[in-house]
Amino acid sequence: MSRLNKKRVVLIVTGGIAAYKALELVRCLRDDGAAVNVVMTAAAEHFVGRLSFQALSSEPVHTDLLDARAEGAMGHIELARWADIVIVAPATADFMARLRHGLADDLATTLCLATVAPILVAPAMNRQMWLNAATVDNTAVLKIRGIVFVGPDAGAQACGETGPGRMALPADIVAAAGALFPAGMLAGRRLMVTAGPTREAIDPVRYISNKSSGKMGYAIAQAAAEAGAEVILVSGPTRLSSPVRVHRTAVISADEMYDAVMAVVDDVDIFVACAAVADYRVEAPAQQKRKKDNHSLNLTLTPTRDILQSVTARPTPPFAVGFAAETEDLLQNARSKLERKSLDMIAANQVGIEGLGFDSNDNELYVLWKGGEQHLAKASKDVIARQLIGLVADRCHSRA
Ligand code: PMT
Repeated sequence: MSRLNKKRVVLIVTGGIAAYKALELVRCLRDDGAAVNVVMTAAAEHFVGRLSFQALSSEPVHTDLLDARAEGAMGHIELARWADIVIVAPATADFMARLRHGLADDLATTLCLATVAPILVAPAMNRQMWLNAATVDNTAVLKIRGIVFVGPDAGAQACGETGPGRMALPADIVAAAGALFPAGMLAGRRLMVTAGPTREAIDPVRYISNKSSGKMGYAIAQAAAEAGAEVILVSGPTRLSSPVRVHRTAVISADEMYDAVMAVVDDVDIFVACAAVADYRVEAPAQQKRKKDNHSLNLTLTPTRDILQSVTARPTPPFAVGFAAETEDLLQNARSKLERKSLDMIAANQVGIEGLGFDSNDNELYVLWKGGEQHLAKASKDVIARQLIGLVADRCHSRA
């Protein structure tokens, strides 16, 4: 069965001569069992009529960010959430530059900003434009952000020149898209992941918490869902919206997170503890807002229950993955947590450095298990999450 079977593809067609080849791409994607929604930029409509895409995709074509009717049906946010993958084919040099700068002045660019799905770009342009330093630079930056490229191929170009810049063949684009869904590595598995911070009340309006944004845990939930797992996300307070096809349970405190995890842990195959759970809570939170006076305030803190350790202490524990957020002696501390908490795997996360760990878009991990380790070099949390899920799938299959 094709890896794209039942996958939901948003195909963005931008304005280049290769736009007509995107018609064939829609047909190939549908032959592979994918559902396709096409988004056309204004320039693309100069090259191919939207009716052709509509006929081949069996869906209305989306063109306008501010189209009230489209917003009523499937607006840019819904399309962004609907997508399992966004493919930009052909991608012009202009579109790549706009993507690199995070512009959001039309439906196509806005959608790319709003989606958490992987983005696959198939560039097509004149060879000199492809080789121009600006395009080279844009490509490098987009790759660092986790955007995947297929092509361009080299050969005779519509402009009469010969060289790199032809859009990759539709079959190659379909293969590259399929490779982003590693054959349902976790199909049939139930995975639970904790994410975000917890808040421990001091009184009804004050709490103790930490800097976790939830981004790493949500990216893991998303990557696990992409890999075919049924995913339960137990999340502390964050500003993030739930990844698609992920069941989210929202909690506030470490105690609530403990209860939510323990309620279902015996029914999951894999547990990933990414949350930054408070190690202490206030023993006796005040029932009313504390009044300020001029004396120092002493709070008695009491340890919270260790969720991860309680999970691995179950009679038949799931494959357990912990995180170790460390400001010093990263690997040594992580190894000792691997042992102490009886984990199958631990992701050692250096924190306290700008641009990594807490509340950043990127991360870098050292993943350790008994008898092995793997360095996941600095990349976006979405990319790191997919790599981590790949390792989890490998290790948990070899344990089974
Ligand atoms: O949310 P982001 O902004 O994206 O940041 C991501 C992150 C830095 C929070 C994440 O990558 C990370 O490192 N999470 C672990 C944070 C942490 O609390 O580490 P720790 O070394 O204190 O705890 C060790 C492990 O025990 C963790 O898996 C933790 O979830 C778990 N734990 C800790 C205490 C507790 N009471 N129960 C637990 O389950």
